Amino acid sequence: MVKIQLVFPESRDNLIKQVNSSFPDLIGESRSCPHIKFGAGPAKAENLYNELDSCFHKKPWIPHQVRNDIFYRWIWVLLIFIISILFISPSSIYSDSGNERPHGDRTRLLKGCASCHKGHGIYNTPMLSERKELFCFRCHGHSIYVENAKRTGDLAGDVMTANIQREFEKPYHHPIEKTGIHRYGEILPEVDASMPRHAACGDCHHHHYVRKENKMSGIRGTNKDGVKVRISSEYELCFNCHSYSANLPADQTNKAEMFNPANPSFHPVIAPGTNNDVPSLLPPLTTSSLIKCTDCHNNDDASGPKGLHGSNYRYILAKNYTTIDGSEGPFQYELCYTCHRRSSVLSEEGFELHYLHIATVGTSCRTCHNPHGSTQYTHLIDFNRASVMLSESGQLGYVDLGNRAGQCSLNCHGKDHDPAVYPGAAVPSSTYSPSLYPSRYPR
Ligand code: HEC
Ligand code: HEC
Ligand code: HEC
Ligand code: HEC
Ligand code: HEC
Ligand code: HEC
Ligand code: HEC
Repeated sequence: MVKIQLVFPESRDNLIKQVNSSFPDLIGESRSCPHIKFGAGPAKAENLYNELDSCFHKKPWIPHQVRNDIFYRWIWVLLIFIISILFISPSSIYSDSGNERPHGDRTRLLKGCASCHKGHGIYNTPMLSERKELFCFRCHGHSIYVENAKRTGDLAGDVMTANIQREFEKPYHHPIEKTGIHRYGEILPEVDASMPRHAACGDCHHHHYVRKENKMSGIRGTNKDGVKVRISSEYELCFNCHSYSANLPADQTNKAEMFNPANPSFHPVIAPGTNNDVPSLLPPLTTSSLIKCTDCHNNDDASGPKGLHGSNYRYILAKNYTTIDGSEGPFQYELCYTCHRRSSVLSEEGFELHYLHIATVGTSCRTCHNPHGSTQYTHLIDFNRASVMLSESGQLGYVDLGNRAGQCSLNCHGKDHDPAVYPGAAVPSSTYSPSLYPSRYPR
């Protein structure tokens, strides 16, 4: 006797085809309905299906409309039941910290678990009352949604939540509109290059464990070596999708490589920087400070909700930053000037040719510096190949010649450095005269 185990429900035609082709002499016994036995015969598969079907139908406790999804739904019911019991007991997942975890706070989510989980819920969700991509906006979206959640008693009337939905409507945002890709418990960085990229609320905030002080609480991160870790620094969240992902877009770099403390230079996100002579730093920053990705990538509206959900500036930047060459002003490089005093950069405390390049000739910081790090050179030097070409003798590179000294080989907008050395570079007085020194910038 051959024993087969069939997953029910299975498409009727599929099942019949499978059984007929694999088991021409089937004698079966159903595990779910043990009283049903089948002998061989021409109508065996069809019989099998009909018998199983009627067997399930006889059970009154299975509502008809959930039959198609029967396994998933009942597993959720069971899980939620077990966890609800835990919730009532003192060792609950929430009770240790009550108000710390806002989603476990019954004074705000008046119905507790039921403020989010309803009856059988929407198809393909763990009994959620709204499709996953819209679900969080019930309480964190436009007031029309939030008012509705208050009306239905899911959210307390006096709670004010930030409107995150508006942030995602800005031109530059994390692509939450790419739905149906994120899976709870998925493994990131992605190893399959053909997987579409995604970012959902649940990638950055855990639906149950989110905390006011740690909005990434309960999410696993990736460290600089690509190893999965409990998040202790924000960048470990970002590295889930912006480091070793096999599906990284061609115009993006691996940020774990760019910020690697073994590089000649890097902005101090993972470890303090390599240069202890950065005179432009604005207090309280020093050369031993650490900064975060969200110091640069964040909401452009400083009075709005925090987070890099969306921005009116390209690359989801918190402040304006121009990567193409053009005239200098406080707005052009506003992002850099939040931490590097503009008057210091332009008065050349650090690099004696800053004013000439930035203000006189109109070179963007990006033409010489990478905002993240440089795998090749010190001082975040990483020439932007959009405007920097090989020098006449075919050279391109930077050599650090010690404190505030160096050498560049390149050609930029027709100006050849083959090579050019500082300090003491020979500069035509027409473009570079002491009178141009920016005494008008307050020190
Ligand atoms: C703020 C809304 C919210 C509240 C309150 C909430 N949940 Fe959930 N829950 C979710 C969301 C969203 C998911 C789906 C996560 C996913 O699949 O990405 C989920 C998933 C689940 C799951 C399946 C996967 C998992 O995370 O374990 C269980 C079980 C569950 N919730 C039980 C509960 C229980 C029990 C409570 C009350 C103690 C509760 N939930 C309170 C939003 C909520
Ligand atoms: C039923 C209403 C409700 C739903 C649904 C809901 N939240 Fe919340 N959430 C709240 C409330 C209330 C707070 C605490 C008030 C606040 O600070 O905004 C909160 C707090 C948060 C916080 C911390 C903000 C802070 O400053 O404390 C984050 C992050 C968050 N929720 C994300 C989510 C995500 C992601 C989802 C979807 C999976 C979601 N929420 C669904 C009601 C809800
Ligand atoms: C779950 C994956 C995921 C996580 C986690 C994540 N991102 Fe993203 N991010 C994306 C996707 C997808 C895009 C859209 C462009 C792309 O495919 O990279 C994006 C876009 C961006 C962009 C704009 C890129 C551009 O070319 O305009 C920036 C900047 C960014 N993310 C920074 C961050 C930072 C900083 C963090 C950590 C705080 C972070 N991201 C966390 C998936 C993620
Ligand atoms: C000092 C400011 C600063 C910090 C800190 C910073 N970024 Fe950026 N980032 C920028 C700027 C400016 C751009 C615009 C593109 C450029 O100039 O190359 C950018 C571009 C990006 C892009 C899109 C283009 C690309 O190069 O891939 C991603 C993704 C990104 N950053 C992720 C991150 C992550 C992840 C972190 C933290 C680990 C981070 N950034 C930290 C300033 C910063
Ligand atoms: C959030 C604060 C912050 C922002 C914004 C910021 N920086 Fe920095 N930057 C720092 C700190 C802190 C250091 C000191 C690191 C060190 O000691 O090596 C630094 C160092 C530097 C250095 C010297 C690195 C070296 O190794 O010599 C350069 C060049 C630089 N930043 C350029 C920029 C540019 C260009 C921008 C704008 C895209 C920018 N920074 C934006 C904080 C910031
Ligand atoms: C790419 C990661 C990422 C995604 C995707 C994301 N967030 Fe956030 N969120 C953050 C970060 C980072 C913060 C700021 C954390 C901080 O400042 O400590 C934040 C902050 C928040 C806050 C608190 C804002 C405040 O000022 O109180 C809420 C609420 C929130 N997110 C809800 C959501 C919701 C809802 C979604 C989906 C629609 C979402 N987030 C998607 C990263 C993300
Ligand atoms: C023509 C190339 C070039 C351009 C354009 C340029 N830099 Fe620099 N920058 C350098 C070099 C080279 C050094 C290293 C000087 C040394 O040897 O210490 C430097 C050093 C720095 C430092 C570290 C020393 C200090 O002043 O604190 C900062 C910060 C800095 N640059 C910021 C900027 C910003 C911000 C911009 C745009 C507004 C910019 N740079 C534009 C070439 C450039």
